[in-house]
Amino acid sequence: MREAGLIVAEMLDRCRAAVRPGVSTKDLDLIAAEVITRRGAVSSFYGYYGYPATICTSVNDEIVHGIPGPRRLKEGDIVGIDAGAIVDGWHGDAAITVPVGRVSKEASRLIAVTEEALRRGIAAAVVGSRLGDIGAAVQTYVEAEGLTVVRNYVGHGIGRAMHEEPQVPNYGVPERGLQIKEGLCIAIEPMVNVGGLATRVLDDHWTVVTADGSLSAHFEHTLWCTAEGPVVLTAPATQGGIRA
Ligand code: MF3
Ligand code: CO
Repeated sequence: MREAGLIVAEMLDRCRAAVRPGVSTKDLDLIAAEVITRRGAVSSFYGYYGYPATICTSVNDEIVHGIPGPRRLKEGDIVGIDAGAIVDGWHGDAAITVPVGRVSKEASRLIAVTEEALRRGIAAAVVGSRLGDIGAAVQTYVEAEGLTVVRNYVGHGIGRAMHEEPQVPNYGVPERGLQIKEGLCIAIEPMVNVGGLATRVLDDHWTVVTADGSLSAHFEHTLWCTAEGPVVLTAPATQGGIRA
């Protein structure tokens, strides 16, 4: 899973570096596909319930599961990039949200809060704690910042399949829910909106948008819960250690 995670990290790094006004979301998909092919891995997403691309790209009010296509990013947009890779049957899954050129203060704060919410969720993924502790860590922080946490989509167990039990909500009550045991692997993926938390799916049957059209951001990591603390399996190689 670390090998898969390293490939996911490289896919996201390469996509992030390519984001600029004029680049299409399909261009990002091709960059991610090149990485995955070169590294001899397989996309977790392509063909999943018929999903037609290597990655998901979700722009502005799109929360998750946007399909790459001819849409060109423009200055001031934000784009969520979600990638998954399979190595020897084992999955890694991670996402980032990237500003396109200069963005509004509101957009950059949304991105910063969502990334920090993920960091806090990871820090709460301690053996002996419960899934409610992770959800509460994310929710408490996001709501204190005046933003909302999406409830209709959640994180998940991950391993031989991209989506396994248990569900990992980004909201919850401390000391409630499944207890975290050594060896558990989960993807934590807060989706945070500037406006309300209601969601809607577009006619393409994939793209999830905010019902009120407000901006949304998404960050995700795959982690391994160990007695020494959470290990971020989708951290880039260049980050040195992978301990949270
Ligand atoms: N990374 C997404 C998740 O965690 C999966 C993308 S959905 C797919 O749920 F259909 F594109 F695979
Ligand atoms: Co996921």
